Amino acid sequence: MSELDQQSVVGVLNHILESELAGVVRYTHYSFLVFGFGRIPIVEWLRQQADESLLHAQQAGEWITTLGAYPSLEIGPLLDSHTFDIGSILRESLEAENIALELYRELLALVQDRSVALEEYARQMIYAEELHAGEVDKLLRRPGALAASPGAAPLA
Ligand SMILES: [Fe+2]
Repeated sequence: MSELDQQSVVGVLNHILESELAGVVRYTHYSFLVFGFGRIPIVEWLRQQADESLLHAQQAGEWITTLGAYPSLEIGPLLDSHTFDIGSILRESLEAENIALELYRELLALVQDRSVALEEYARQMIYAEELHAGEVDKLLRRPGALAASPGAAPLA
């Protein structure tokens, strides 16, 4: 196995941590802005996403300290279009999730054949985030439409 580029790995893990923490804030914020008949399941779903993002942030943070580095206290960009429309909220979330997915792919490229545990972690996260992005994409489709929406990340 080749040597792990610790500094680059920690750099990407810190970006992941920041991006997942932004997810916690984003999903929580949006959960306050859902009105209308569909409110209850959508609020519940957004809060579940906030909890999942927190779990992902904690996992990234634990990896950073496992590698003997200091976790970032920054937070990723918070895209707020100040809209109450569920479609816009979901499109914005999908965009942010795709950024996180790219970071996990970046991590995988750095750790592949260098650390079994980190490679396993990166693959599990790509799997989880792709399923998640696929779910958001389905929420954005019109009933009866089979094709993925234009914002959906290509499966790699
Ligand atoms: Fe995540």
